[in-house]
Amino acid sequence: MAEISLNKINKIYGDNFHAIHDLTFDIKDGEFMVFVGPSGCGKSTALRMIAGLESISSGELRIGGRIVNDVDPKDRDIAMVFQSYALYPHKTVRENIAFPLLMAGLDKAEIAARVEAAARTLELTPHLDRKPAHLSGGQRQRVAMGRAIVRQPAAFLMDEPLSNLDAKLRVQMRAEIASLQRNLKVTTIYVTHDQVEAMTMGDRVAVLKGGVLQQVDTPQNLYSRPVNMFVAAFIGSPSMNLYEATLDGTELKLGSNTFNIPASVFAQRPSLNGAIRRHLVVGIRPEHMNDATLHPASAEIKAHVKLVEALGSEAMVHLVIDAPWIDAGDPDAASDIGHERTAVARFSPKSSVRADDNARVAIAAEELHFFDPQTRKSLW
Ligand SMILES: Nc1ncnc2c1ncn2[C@@H]1O[C@H](COP(=O)(O)OP(=O)(O)OP(=O)(O)O)[C@@H](O)[C@H]1O
Ligand SMILES: [Mg+2]
Repeated sequence: MAEISLNKINKIYGDNFHAIHDLTFDIKDGEFMVFVGPSGCGKSTALRMIAGLESISSGELRIGGRIVNDVDPKDRDIAMVFQSYALYPHKTVRENIAFPLLMAGLDKAEIAARVEAAARTLELTPHLDRKPAHLSGGQRQRVAMGRAIVRQPAAFLMDEPLSNLDAKLRVQMRAEIASLQRNLKVTTIYVTHDQVEAMTMGDRVAVLKGGVLQQVDTPQNLYSRPVNMFVAAFIGSPSMNLYEATLDGTELKLGSNTFNIPASVFAQRPSLNGAIRRHLVVGIRPEHMNDATLHPASAEIKAHVKLVEALGSEAMVHLVIDAPWIDAGDPDAASDIGHERTAVARFSPKSSVRADDNARVAIAAEELHFFDPQTRKSLW
């Protein structure tokens, strides 16, 4: 059993830099957990504390039920894979993979058997006698993985292991790592700042911001039930569009536009009931806006088209909506064209809207998200 359990873990660097605040959650045996969040949010710090490479300032860390706060990294029974996979250039693939077993003092026959097995799993058998310089980026990454899996550790910890690879290889390798983990069923923590990687790989995803855990949940729940504006905007690409709005009874005022919110939304979010001129933040995902001339809906707004990006399968339409635009706190999230904050909509490719048009935009009102403007939390 290699359940990993964090209980009020804090990290204070130096005298007073509080990098991780009361981090608390459990990772189940065999689970693939992803840590995601913007640069500097504390992902590597959290991972390094679990690995034992960084001391824990306060709190309790358990691996397989045992408190390991003061246990040496080598005695925690974990294997780490880093962004820079640091293979030994003068050693062959076979020697690179065998290295941790040699250090652990295993006998030759056992080492040979484990290296062969790892190479088969990773499809490296034909390359065992090559040196790293003669391998592709993806093959090198697989050797680094091989070095982790031969040890048969209780857990894998991976810190952005794919960030040195080009985009196409990254997509391929992320599928390989996910399927390898599912076969080996080894508890895994995977750090990335890429929310697409997080969503496609994780059984569950922990979203961090400023050293504080925002939400830990399945990818689908993060997407459909984000706890606050930050998670709502961070998960999903393009980002959720956020605007100040007023709810008056069942009527939503969004700038100069007004439309009705369906009863199903109030049933799902009881706290919205009976609102009389309540100020809130409305969140609209790009796929919940479409060209109203092609896809009429009961909720419709007017918007000015700034830019249309035709992608073949869909059109990304950048729209100016005359309501106050809200920053969710993620600098990468904003679409900002000519200094005018724009919303992004995914229109069907048949739409004929063009830049500078005044468009009628259909809104899937039953799919809207609502947030408290002060606490920035979701309204349920
Ligand atoms: N050794 C250290 N001493 C002081 N501050 C540190 C140290 N290591 C990291 N920090 C700070 O702690 C915060 C979290 O850093 P960390 O490396 O965990 O972020 P991260 O989420 O992994 O970011 P990235 O996505 O850029 O890798 C940052 O503000 C960083 O500057
Ligand atoms: Mg990092």
